[in-house]
Amino acid sequence: MRYDESTIEKVREANDIVDVVGQYVRLTKKGANYFGLCPFHGEKTASFSVSPRKQIYYCFGCGAGGNVISFLMEYENYSFQESLKALADRAHIDLPEPKDGGEDRGARELKRQLLDIHKDAAMYYYRQLQTPEGAAGYRYFSGQRRLSDATITHFGLGFAPKASDALYRFLKDKGWSDEIISASGLVTIQETKIHDKFWNRVMFPIMDTNSRVIGFGGRVMGDGVPKYLNSPETLIFDKSAHLYGLNFARKSRRKYMLLCEGYMDVIALHQAGFTNAVASLGTAFNEKHARLLKRYTDLVILTQDSDDAGVNAKLRAYPILYDAGIQTKVLDMSPYKDPDEFIRAEGPDAYETRIRQAKNAFIYMIEVLKKHYDLSDPAEKTAFYNGVADRLCMFREPLERGNYIDSVSHEFMIPKDELKALVDRRIEEKGAGIRYDDTNRRPRVIEGQSLQTSGTAAYPEARSGRNGAAGTAKKPVPLSVQQNEKLLLSWICERPDLGRYVFQHIRPEDLQTEIYREIAADVREHPNHFDAASFLDRCGEDDEKRKAAAAVFAEFGNGASLDDMSRMDLEKGLSEAVRHVLRAGIDEKIASCSDASELGRLQQSKNELRSFKITIT
Ligand code: UTP
Ligand code: MN
Repeated sequence: MRYDESTIEKVREANDIVDVVGQYVRLTKKGANYFGLCPFHGEKTASFSVSPRKQIYYCFGCGAGGNVISFLMEYENYSFQESLKALADRAHIDLPEPKDGGEDRGARELKRQLLDIHKDAAMYYYRQLQTPEGAAGYRYFSGQRRLSDATITHFGLGFAPKASDALYRFLKDKGWSDEIISASGLVTIQETKIHDKFWNRVMFPIMDTNSRVIGFGGRVMGDGVPKYLNSPETLIFDKSAHLYGLNFARKSRRKYMLLCEGYMDVIALHQAGFTNAVASLGTAFNEKHARLLKRYTDLVILTQDSDDAGVNAKLRAYPILYDAGIQTKVLDMSPYKDPDEFIRAEGPDAYETRIRQAKNAFIYMIEVLKKHYDLSDPAEKTAFYNGVADRLCMFREPLERGNYIDSVSHEFMIPKDELKALVDRRIEEKGAGIRYDDTNRRPRVIEGQSLQTSGTAAYPEARSGRNGAAGTAKKPVPLSVQQNEKLLLSWICERPDLGRYVFQHIRPEDLQTEIYREIAADVREHPNHFDAASFLDRCGEDDEKRKAAAAVFAEFGNGASLDDMSRMDLEKGLSEAVRHVLRAGIDEKIASCSDASELGRLQQSKNELRSFKITIT
């Protein structure tokens, strides 16, 4: 960070968040907070809230959140420094010279150059299609893949020639330095060995939401391997944060988005008029993708491939989309492998019909589960019913859960009352929000582990990437644990004075979720003047962190204020929140314990938790 904390704080305190946000969003006061339509995703009911007391904003719809500085960063697409500068100007504060100036400016400049060099490269590849050598590429697109000239131009498709340094020579002629060329990832320069990353491939430029080229995918024209090569991650290309086709899809007038697997699927769908199709780029669909989509839509129709990998991709995407507040349906493409093949064989009208027939993703998940059981065998039938009950626990809202119990019991002919009893017992024992990993397509249960963190990327290339996950990542914190910790923290952030009761039983370092640990430590340190907005400043430009923190601070923004609660209700709520976290801690120990007497002791303390109660004096 370039400015010291006191400067940042001074600027922030001179800009009331309600005034600043109010310049962009129409806000109405409701209780202690202000509400309006969220500027970060399309919505019709106001779920965007601003707290004058905490000086933060948070959207209960899409999860956007932060303080006044991050609001401008997100809204105006400013960097931290730009946002700070704008706010300082607004409040007529002169910013002192930054402490370690230059570094950020350097990074910004490099970004700009990388965007420019990608533009040049895209133009180069595109033009090659019209050369005699590139004719093979053109024939591939128009002949074999049936793409029109308009489609080729629209997506800026191109061709990388056979010579192994053709792009390098072109870029050098354009005046680019070896340093920038190398940073682009499009050419490898090692000592005297120089070769283009892509040669003799048809090229797919990857664009960000503003249609700026940030990377490429290149496909072999025949059956060679790897079928697709993709740009490495660079300063401007983060695979886990972009969706192919979104630059066009976000302008589509359809109310939903189609999520598919490949470049060619997106292109074929757009050409057929489904301009709302997007795909993740050879990486598993993740939370960032979901949040990105949530800005533009509330409904996603999954149309990944029909093979096993595609089924897994759907099962994996569904809970991630659900958590982002997006409704999900699944489209049946059988007997074809992917949307590209379907459209080619059956045409757009048939695909439109399949869109209309798309079914609820939860029902789809249960259908996949059902295939593992022989329901004529009573033991397997029982196991199936239990599996269904397990999965119904993912719904936290009793009403929603009830509706799903209704449909599932109807659809799969499971006696409703029995199913409800199975679900209730589970909720009683473990609470709601627990997830099961369905993606291995065997009825194996991974308790309390959210699907989103257990995903392995579909391709080796992706797996080695930053966010591909397998193996390298820290052990994921189960979603239910995160939720419990979040709830507990939201209590003490709202009423830091209650912290002393909590910290008698739980130390900040006992919390499993990193950001929550940090918040807890901060509250404990400043029991009398904990400041949410200044905590968010200290998260700097780390978007994930800031959002997680903002979610905690906003938990009570929508509903009752703790100030109006009776002491009895406070004690009850707080005790429950602490109890849940303590129990998760014991469960964690039980899971990794192999010593019988220790196990007994743990079980004993778990039982004792039932009567746990905090008394507020
Ligand atoms: P598919 O193998 O389903 O390819 O991979 P596709 O899109 O149907 O391609 P065509 O129709 O055979 O041309 C789906 C996506 O996975 C990524 C690419 O993004 C591809 O579009 N992928 C696939 C890779 O990154 N590397 C590979 O080797 C294969
Ligand atoms: Mn295909």
